[in-house]
Amino acid sequence: MKPNQIDRIIRRVDRLPTLPIIYTKLTRLLQAPNTTVQTVGNIIAEDQAIAVKVLRLVNSAFYGLPHKIGSLKHAIVLLGLNQVKNLVLATSTLQMFQEFKSAEAFDMKKFWEHSVGCAIAAKVLAETAHLGSPDDIFSGGLLHDVGKLIHAIYLDEAFTAVIADVQENEVPMIESEKKILGYDHSYTGRELAARWSLSQGTIEMIAHHHLSDSSARITKEIAAVHIGDIICIALGLGSGGEKKVPVANTKAWDILDIDLSRLDYIVTRIEKLFRESVSILES
Ligand SMILES: [Fe+2]
Ligand SMILES: [Fe+2]
Repeated sequence: MKPNQIDRIIRRVDRLPTLPIIYTKLTRLLQAPNTTVQTVGNIIAEDQAIAVKVLRLVNSAFYGLPHKIGSLKHAIVLLGLNQVKNLVLATSTLQMFQEFKSAEAFDMKKFWEHSVGCAIAAKVLAETAHLGSPDDIFSGGLLHDVGKLIHAIYLDEAFTAVIADVQENEVPMIESEKKILGYDHSYTGRELAARWSLSQGTIEMIAHHHLSDSSARITKEIAAVHIGDIICIALGLGSGGEKKVPVANTKAWDILDIDLSRLDYIVTRIEKLFRESVSILES
């Protein structure tokens, strides 16, 4: 199969997965200058499943609050708008991932966990490196492998062959995809993200997270998603179908400029946040 065939799939808008409405609404709202807690609360209240999770998170042991919080508005104030946004994005992508029947060999639940793990890891790296936009990086991490979603839904047999090849021959998935499909999931992800009109920064994080194109410019955001992805695979947080832990591009570490003595702290924080988030979001 060649790229133009995946282009045809991407153009079949009516059958493509769509970003949950709440995801788009909230992203737009948080970019507007005079958004209030009340407006965000109103949007979240429209989705009962998500509203319950926001309340569960604020009442979880993690925050150790002495009184139970029952109001969404109060919860948003305590958690902060960006924390709430990330929670909504992660929950709504789970809904999107589970909406379609996918290749049996591909575990959607574990894939979602890998996506959340990468989002958390990339955000922790961005915070440690004092980058300006850790929350945008969270979205990039969450959707970095979204091309695999399309492969799992539409290329059932060919993608099953890719998964088998990765497991049996211990090759990186992008190499196997290029060999069997003629393109890899970062290509498909970029096409889908463009179709969804995501921001240029998010599209770039999706398109270049493997840093496989040596001519592409590596930004700090891309570097954070690249390293975050590899840390998740190394720690076994969910699974995007890789067998071996990929080697991190040393340029990405250089760009992030994080002292390697902080790695212990970074890994502990990622694991802690991952466990807490997944248990609340999946419940
Ligand atoms: Fe990937
Ligand atoms: Fe990944």
